[in-house]
Amino acid sequence: MLERTRLAIDLAREAGAFIREHSGKRRNVEYKSAVDLVTEVDRGSEALIIEGIRRAFPNDAIVAEEESAGSRPASPTGPCWCIDPLDGTINFVHGLPHFAVSIAYLDGGRPVSAAVYDPSKDEMFHAERGGGAFAGEQQLEVSAVHDVDKALLVTGFPYDRREHAALYLEYFREFMCAAQDLRRYGSASLDMAYVAAGRFDGFFEWKLHPWDTAAGWLLVEEAGGRVTDFDGSAYDPWLPRVLASNGAIHDQALAVLAGLAAANGETHGR
Ligand code: IPD
Ligand code: CA
Ligand code: CA
Repeated sequence: MLERTRLAIDLAREAGAFIREHSGKRRNVEYKSAVDLVTEVDRGSEALIIEGIRRAFPNDAIVAEEESAGSRPASPTGPCWCIDPLDGTINFVHGLPHFAVSIAYLDGGRPVSAAVYDPSKDEMFHAERGGGAFAGEQQLEVSAVHDVDKALLVTGFPYDRREHAALYLEYFREFMCAAQDLRRYGSASLDMAYVAAGRFDGFFEWKLHPWDTAAGWLLVEEAGGRVTDFDGSAYDPWLPRVLASNGAIHDQALAVLAGLAAANGETHGR
């Protein structure tokens, strides 16, 4: 295993233990917007991870959610870490045990190492480019569902959901009718880890950031799935749309998205 993969796993576990210690207490919540929250636990988890990376690899670039304060960083092409110190803050604040620490290491814009850790379930997902994806010791494989009609999908609603509710609900409606069922779980990194694990067959969302998706991207690909933009083009975590699937239903999901694009001026509301 690469040194950086080991580090991603160790820091995700350490940050997860920190979050676990601080869960179940009333939180001081700050609002980045009416629906975008941050707590001192997000910040503490991030500080711990950044310190661990700087100690081991002082020259690597780091893109971390709270440090970036929501800005969209320019895409670094060299060694770069993308960190979401607590993915699923709204769940965390409400005591809903479904959130994660997401850490990815990228080189040349592609993920090389990934760790997504769910501290509530003590479940560690990790992957290394070319080395497979794992939950603990168990190698992951995407599901074998071939028909979107039999697929369990998951999505999320971006932080501008109040402004663009009609658009997001239109997509929700289309996929709700096309799929067997559609969930909204509240942690994009776990949504993608669950696609890798074959629990979900597909995931789509808008306006995510590299810290939400970079680790999940590698997990899905290493488990045999596919990750693209909504139009089927190569995925770029610095761009705002992601479709991840088991691969088998990908073209059907793209066809649903193409229909929605045609109805929305080809922009998907961007
Ligand atoms: C959020 C979660 C959620 C997704 C939002 C994300 P945060 O991350 O991943 O599932 O729907 O778009 O921003 O803010 O809890 O780290
Ligand atoms: Ca997030
Ligand atoms: Ca977060």
